[in-house]
Amino acid sequence: MTLPLYHTHARPGDLVQLLSTSHRFFLVRLTPDAVLHTHKGVIQHNDLIGLPWGSQVYSHLGASFYLLRPSLADLLKETRRNTQIMFPKDIGFVLVSLSIGPGQTVLEAGTGSGALTTALAFAVGPQGRVISYERRGEMQRLARKNLRRVGLDDRVTFKLRDIALGFDETDVDALFLDVPNPEDYIAQARAALKTGGFFGSLVPTTNQVSRLVVALQEHHFAFIEVCEVLLRYYKPVPERLRPTDRMVAHTGYLIFARPVVPAPPPAEQETAVPPSSQP
Ligand SMILES: C[S@@+](CC[C@H](N)C(=O)[O-])C[C@H]1O[C@@H](n2cnc3c(N)ncnc32)[C@H](O)[C@@H]1O
Repeated sequence: MTLPLYHTHARPGDLVQLLSTSHRFFLVRLTPDAVLHTHKGVIQHNDLIGLPWGSQVYSHLGASFYLLRPSLADLLKETRRNTQIMFPKDIGFVLVSLSIGPGQTVLEAGTGSGALTTALAFAVGPQGRVISYERRGEMQRLARKNLRRVGLDDRVTFKLRDIALGFDETDVDALFLDVPNPEDYIAQARAALKTGGFFGSLVPTTNQVSRLVVALQEHHFAFIEVCEVLLRYYKPVPERLRPTDRMVAHTGYLIFARPVVPAPPPAEQETAVPPSSQP
């Protein structure tokens, strides 16, 4: 784990965020003698190393920035993308709904640009493992780069495969599908998951949700939930507190379910012989 979470001052090798007062930010890994070029002038890394988090720093043109530790949401926003990536609001709810935590083994497909992969790798910690399947080589390469940039690639195994061919793993704690037709891979997901594990998926339209729910029911998944996460920001002005003018109205529907042991067929009714009629 190379994210700077535990010490009080910025150190060489730390991934840092330089946030301008206009909320534009830069993510850089602190390297002695390196230079950051911004639209508002140049900042020397040497001037940042050793400063306490939250310090105000200035470019050579006098523009002001704050030196901060990037949040996981900041890292996700910075994901370089070739695909639609999952939004932090959905990712946050996925992490708690699938109960992702330290030391777990989690499967996902498709990797895409690796936004969800980043959050899963962050949550499973150094002892955990994320196994991420993708069928397109160029997507996998981009995701690898994104994970390396934030120092989390050593927790991820990337596999280049169409998941129609199945997963190599069994007994995983949780599995998430972000592909257009998750309903076609529920048998494969079921074979990879622990009984009683956590399944989740995201699809953008209700038609896809209906198809997925049918497939989950056919494969003995129970406790199926369908929801969406709506997030509205407010302008933080105490005397005129009100929502911002725009919001993201739709990203996708989230579907969660638990693979359970199939109920045995009802036992054949034995013809009960009343004790009084026995010899
Ligand atoms: C929407 S993107 C995933 C975005 C990702 N969750 C993120 O947050 O960056 C969907 C990805 O699934 C991949 N994909 C679609 N069908 C697949 C399949 N059958 N097997 C493996 N990958 C698949 C696509 O190539 C694409 O990269």
